[in-house]
This record gives sequence, C-alpha cells and structure tokens, in this order.
Amino acid sequence: MVKRYLTSNQGTPVGDDQHSLTVGERGPILLTDTVYLEKIAQFDRERIPERAFHAKGAGAYGYFVPYRSFASLTKAGFLQDPEKATPVFTRFSLAGGSSGGADTVRDVRGFAVKFYTEEGNYDLICNHIPVFPLRDPLQFPDFVHAVKPDPIANIRGGPIAASRFWDFVSLRPESMNFLIYLFSDLGTVRSYRTIPGFGINTYKWVNLRGEETYIRYYWEPCAGVEYIDSKTAAHLAGTDPDVASRDLFDTLAAGNSVEFEMRVQTIKPELECEQPFDILDPTLIWPEHMYPLIPVGRMVLNKNPENFFAEVEQSAFSPAAIVPGIGFSNDRILQGRIFPYGDTQRYRIGPNYLELPVNMPRHPVDNKMQDGPMRSGYSTDIANYLPNTLSGGMPAEAPEKGNPPQEYISGCVGRQEIAGDDYYQPGCTYRNMSGPEKNRLVSNIMESLSQAYEPIQRRMIDHFMRTDQEFGCRIAQKLSLIP
Ligand code: HEM
Repeated sequence: MVKRYLTSNQGTPVGDDQHSLTVGERGPILLTDTVYLEKIAQFDRERIPERAFHAKGAGAYGYFVPYRSFASLTKAGFLQDPEKATPVFTRFSLAGGSSGGADTVRDVRGFAVKFYTEEGNYDLICNHIPVFPLRDPLQFPDFVHAVKPDPIANIRGGPIAASRFWDFVSLRPESMNFLIYLFSDLGTVRSYRTIPGFGINTYKWVNLRGEETYIRYYWEPCAGVEYIDSKTAAHLAGTDPDVASRDLFDTLAAGNSVEFEMRVQTIKPELECEQPFDILDPTLIWPEHMYPLIPVGRMVLNKNPENFFAEVEQSAFSPAAIVPGIGFSNDRILQGRIFPYGDTQRYRIGPNYLELPVNMPRHPVDNKMQDGPMRSGYSTDIANYLPNTLSGGMPAEAPEKGNPPQEYISGCVGRQEIAGDDYYQPGCTYRNMSGPEKNRLVSNIMESLSQAYEPIQRRMIDHFMRTDQEFGCRIAQKLSLIP
C-alpha cells in the first residue's frame, strides 16, 4: 500500500502546509512559497456561480420502480417493467433564496429528479406548488428579478422588497393561482421528506404505435404532506436555517429511506379542445376530480451524496433531457425551458458538465463532439467527423422504437399573448379551504402585502375581490382600504 503523506496538487511531498515561507520570523512571505501559492490560488477558485434560480438545495441518491408496465401509454424503457429499478438522483431546493438562505422561508421548493435510464438520462424537474405564475417564458427573467433582492441595496425584506414583488404580480393576474398556494400553509415547510412535487407543465407520453397522451406529473410524499406556520418558520430560519437539508441528510445517514409515489393525470390530445380550460396553461391546475391521479411507481431515496459540492452543487438538471417515449407539449413555458437549463450549466459548471459523475449518463455517450475546458473523455478514432470512411464509416443510427408520432403545425408567425382570462381559478381553491386555513392565508398575505406601497395594495385587492369577494373584502379591511 502507498504510504499516505501530505502532498501538493501535483502529488509532490509537502512537509508543512500551515506556516508560510518567510524571511525570518517577522519578515515578508517569499514568492517561492509554492505551498502557499497553490493552496491560496485553489481557494480563490473554490466557488462556481450559484444557480440563477433554485440556488440552495440538498440531494440524495436512490431508485425508482414502476408498479406495472405503462407500455399502453409510453415506450419509455424505465416505465415498462415492475421488476426493474432505475437509479435516480434527486435535488430539492428553494427557488428564490440564495445559496446561504434559510430553508423555512416562504418560497417555492424545487424537486428535480434525474433518472439514469438505460436509454440515457431523463430529468423530471418539478416544484412543490402545482402551478406557475407565468404563461410565457419571455417574462421569466422579470419574475426572477422581482423576487430576488433589489438591485440598489440588495435587501430581501421590508417595504421595497414587498413592493417590488407585489408590483410585479399585481400586473400579472395569471399569477393569482400561484399566489394562493405560495401564501397558503404549503409555502413554509421544514422538511423535504414531506413536500409534494408537481411537474406543472404538460408533457406527452408516446407509445410504440406513435399514440400520444398529455401527462401531468405528481409526486406524493409517502410520509404525508406537512407544513409549518409562519411563526415557526421565522423562528427556525434564525435558529436552524439548514433544517430541511439537515433533516434529509440525517434521515438517510441513520439508515432510513425517503419515499415518494409518482402519479400522473392524463388527457388524450384529441380531447384537448373539449376541456373547459386551456390544459396547456401552467397557471392552471387540472382538477383531480375531473382528471384522476394514476399511481405510476415509487421513488426510494436511500443514500446521501459523499460530497456536497461535487454531487449537489454541480448536479445539472434540464427539461431537455428526455428519453424515447416522453415528449414536449406546446405549453409555452415548457418550450421556453428546453434551452436555458443546459445553457446556464455550460456557464455555471462548464461545457463538459455532463462528464461529472453525478450528471454522466449510464448509457455510453457516442458522438463526434469533443474538447472544451476540463474535457476528460475522448475518442481514439482518427475521424472525428461524420460521415467518414476512415473509422468504420457512420456509427449505427439509434433504432427508432416503434412509430414516431405525427404532428402537423401551421400558423402565423407573431408575438401573441396566450388567449384566456381564466385568472381567477383559485377562487375555488380558496372556497375549498377550511376556516383556519383561510385565516392563515389572509394573515400570511398580510405579513407581506401590508408592507407594500398603497397603489399596489389597491391593485391586489381588486384581484383578490375577483378571485373571491369575501377573500378580497377581508384583505381590504385588514389594510383599512375601501375596495
Ligand atoms: C420559463 C420558465 C422557466 C425558466 C426559464 C427556468 C429556468 C431555470 C434555470 C435557468 C434554472 C437554473 C438551472 C441551473 O443552474 O442548473 C432553473 C432551475 C430550476 N427550475 Fe426552472 N425555469 C422555469 C420554470 C420552471 C418550472 C415551471 C419549474 C417546475 C415545474 C421549474 C423548476 C426548477 C427547479 C426545480 C430548478 C432547480 C434544478 C436543480 O435542482 O438544479 N422551473 N430554472
């Protein structure tokens, strides 16, 4: 066995990495102190840019097993055989906070799952709130700017932060559904083990015959959904800011597992126009009583990462990572998500981010793409281009599994708002809440809205009145504003 001793990054022996090389006890440090130079230069580069959104998170490994074959709906290999487990890596996160933020603050939690399937990586990226505030991805940077600290003082709380947030959402009435969920009990949680996950966007499943089905995904935590009130959340944010990350880590470290059931709702594309609302609109839910949830399988998380930076911070999920049998609907938000994840990861981590073990597909990668910073994989073929005759010609084309779906699209090119003023669907959500739930919703909204400037408060009261008259009146009264 090689004897262990301290080394430089070059593997050369280091006798002392605690005391810098100086001229005498009180003299200057020498430029020839390679031990110091290397150690401090490495430290200077320890951080990579944090994610533009969902910056703070925690991750875990595990596996997913379907309950039965879903061949009638999808040809995706990992959904065919109840005997076959697919390895997964899941990252839970907070959408708005920075990487040093507290786990319990009112925020959307992210729930991203990477399935290492035999047909390549499939990433299913969900949130813990069933709807999104926008219908068009061109507005996403504006939304993120409005929820992040202000550009002048970089402050998260207080009247300016509250006014910026409510200003934006009051001008985007399609965010009303999102707001009701965000300010409901669901907005503050202490554990990632007990949050649900919602795919929000509408995907397609495609079977071997080329038949498509619209799908919305849902993850049900097997331990049940839990939340905390805003007082407990504020207290924990001060006393135990990493409570959710710690809870996940400690649970797995103690040898316990964390489990979620995948469920889907389905609609046949030919019935799309017969539905009472736009089923591709991510600001709207598909009500469960109309579109029952079908249990699909179980995800078991049972292993902590060995190193946070290598495996969680550098993990990279993208809606573009789909496998045969899964497709995109024309939900504009989903279409807009296909590009930016990989794009930001090429910047945040580097163009070869998919070579890192946590991101690397288990199916071998075979193409003629090459080089770039930190590339470790390479081909020994002389012909790094296609077509060629020098290295066996073309590689075999990936076989098409079954028939491809037929899609015909036509229309005028233009920038058009998505039609529909179905902004006040959350009226039903409000009316279905119990008395105490309604009280907490109103009080949670008040905590924030009461700090915003008055014209903005008035705009919000108008939206809340349209959502539900009693709800709007309660907020107006609390703010001492006549609607
Ligand atoms: C126009 C809409 C959206 C855009 C442009 C967008 C863009 C982004 C970007 C750029 C990141 C950072 C990725 C990284 O640095 O690795 C991100 C992270 C994330 N987004 Fe979105 N997003 C959108 C909508 C959504 C929706 C609808 C959901 C949920 C269904 C969602 C869930 C997440 C999650 C969970 C993460 C964190 C992934 C991780 O754990 O690394 N996003 N998003």
